[in-house]
Amino acid sequence: MTTPTIELKPSSNPLSAAEREAILANPGFGRHFTDHMVTIKWTEGRGWHDAELVPYAPLSIDPANMTLHYAQTIFEGLKAYKQPDGTVATFRPQANAERFQASARRMAMPELPTELFIAACDALIEQDRAWVPDSGEASLYLRPFMFASEVGLGVRPANEFLFMVIASPAGAYFPGGVKPVSVWLSEEYVRAVKGGTGAAKTGGNYAASLVAQAQAAEHGCDQVVWLDAVEHRWIEEMGGMNLYFVYGDRIVTPELTGSLLPGITRDSLLTIARDLGYTAEEGRISTEDWQRDNENGTLTEVFACGTAAVITPVGSVKSERANWIQGDGQPGEVTMKLRKALLDLQTGRAADTHGWMHPL
Ligand code: PLP
Ligand code: COI
Repeated sequence: MTTPTIELKPSSNPLSAAEREAILANPGFGRHFTDHMVTIKWTEGRGWHDAELVPYAPLSIDPANMTLHYAQTIFEGLKAYKQPDGTVATFRPQANAERFQASARRMAMPELPTELFIAACDALIEQDRAWVPDSGEASLYLRPFMFASEVGLGVRPANEFLFMVIASPAGAYFPGGVKPVSVWLSEEYVRAVKGGTGAAKTGGNYAASLVAQAQAAEHGCDQVVWLDAVEHRWIEEMGGMNLYFVYGDRIVTPELTGSLLPGITRDSLLTIARDLGYTAEEGRISTEDWQRDNENGTLTEVFACGTAAVITPVGSVKSERANWIQGDGQPGEVTMKLRKALLDLQTGRAADTHGWMHPL
C-alpha cells in the first residue's frame, strides 16, 4: 500500500489578519481553530487514501455513524512552538505518532504510519503558519484524531475511518498561570483498570472522568487525582496530566501499570531531570505515603505535567477523609526549574541535546 500525499485545497475565506491577531492576543485553550484541517480516509482493503488539506469546516455525520454509538475514537495532543529564529518546530511528534498507533491497536483501529502522522501535522502547520503564536509559553496546539466513519449499528470494528488534524492556538491551559492547583483524591470513581483502555488516548476515558471532575469541583478542587481501581490507594494520574513527586533531589512518577496514560511530557522529564542532576525514577506512591511524607517534610513538592498544561504545581490535596496543604502550598523550586528547562527546550532557548525537536 502506498502512502498518500496530502493534496491542498486552500480556504477561500480565511480569517482576516486583524481577526486572527485579536484571537492570538488571548487564545485561551481549545476555543479557536485555524483556517484549515487535514483529512485522510481509511477503508478496509484499500488502506489510507484521499489525504487532503481543506478549509476548516463542520462535518456532516450520519445519525448511525458508529462512533456516535460505540465510541471507536482516539486522539493525540502536541504543540508547535515558534523558535527564536522565526521558524516553527514541534516537540517529539514521533512519540505522539507511536502512542497514536498504540491507542489504535487497543481500540481495534487501523494504525496510521508515523511518516503520515508527522506529514499531516507539518502540512497543517505550514499552511496555517500565521497562527503559531509568537513567544513565551504560547504555542499552536495540534489535535490529531481518528474515528469510525462507517454507518451502522452492528457492534464490531468499523471498516471505514477518518483521520483528521485540527489546530488551535494555545495560551495557558489554566488561565490563572503558574498557580498551584488543588486536587481531589477520587476514591469513589475510578478512571481505568488493568486490561481496560486507560493507557489509550480514547474519548471514553475522558467521558468517564467528568462525573469525578464535577465531584472535585463540589469539594472546591480544581482537578481529580485518579487512584488504582483495585485497592483505591495507589496514585495513578490526573484527568489530563501525569504526576511527579519531589523528594529533595529525587523525583518519582507513578510507574506505567497499564491503566494510566504514558505521557510524553512525563517521559521527557525523566531525562531532563537526570540532565539537571536529579535522580528520576518510576515507582509506587500511595495516598498514605503522600500524606505522611508531606507531613514529615521528605516530600517537598508535587507537580502535574502534560502537553496542554506543561508543568503545574499541586498546592493542596483533599479526599473524603483528609485535607492537607502540599509543602507550603506555593510552586516549588524543583518544579519551576524543570518547567523552565522543558519550556526552554521547546521554544528553542536551550540546546536540543536529545534530538526531540522536529523543525518544519
Ligand atoms: N494523562 C492523561 C489522561 C492525558 O490526557 C494526558 C494528555 O495528553 C497526559 C496524561 C499527559 O500526556 P502528554 O505529556 O503526552 O501530553
Ligand atoms: C493534552 O495535554 O494534550 C491533553 O490531551 C490533555 C487534555 C486537553 C485532554
